Amino acid sequence: MKTWEELENECKSCTACPLSETRTNCVFGAGSKSASLMFVGEAPGEKEDLSGIPFVGAAGKLLDKYLCAVGINRDEVYIANILKCRPPKNRDPLPSEQDMCIEYLRDQVRLIRPKIIVCLGRIAAMRLIDPGYKITKEHGIFVERGGFTMTAVYHPAALLRDPRKKEDMLTDMKKIKALLDEK
Ligand code: URA
Repeated sequence: MKTWEELENECKSCTACPLSETRTNCVFGAGSKSASLMFVGEAPGEKEDLSGIPFVGAAGKLLDKYLCAVGINRDEVYIANILKCRPPKNRDPLPSEQDMCIEYLRDQVRLIRPKIIVCLGRIAAMRLIDPGYKITKEHGIFVERGGFTMTAVYHPAALLRDPRKKEDMLTDMKKIKALLDEK
C-alpha cells in the first residue's frame, strides 16, 4: 500500500485525463487522516480549483453550517471528491473521468479507514453506493458496503437551488452525528 505522501504526490502530478490540462490545482482532499467520518463530493468547482481545497465555495460554506449545526468540527472529518480536477464549467464528471480518478479516492479510504462515509449528492452516491441510487428517496439511509457504513445526503449546491430540501438535510446530518457518537 502507498503511503499518504506517495499517494498525494502521485495525484498532484497526475496527467491521466484531459482535466489535468485545464486545472489550476489538483484538489486532493482536506481534513484529518484519522477521521471517523469522511465526506465525498463530486468534483472541484472554481473556488476549489483556485485554492486546491475542497468545498470552499458557496456550497462548501453551506456544508460548514450544517457541520457546525450538528456539532461536527470540519478539522476532524476528511473531505474529498470523486474527481480531483475541475471539469470545465462545472459539468457533471464523465464516467471515463471517474474511472480514471476513482483509485485515488479508494486509496484515501484504505489509508483513512473512516467508520462512516457520506456521499454529498447523487453523483457520488451513484458511484460509491449504487448506480441506481435515488437521492430523493434514499438520502439519510445507512447501508453497509465493503466494511464501511455509508449514506448520502443532498449536495449542498442542490440545497442552494431548492431550500425546501434543507429540513431533510438537517435531519440527515443529525442522524449521522448520532451514529458517529455511537461508533
Ligand atoms: N462541489 C463538489 O462536489 N465538490 C467540491 O469540492 C466543491 C463543490
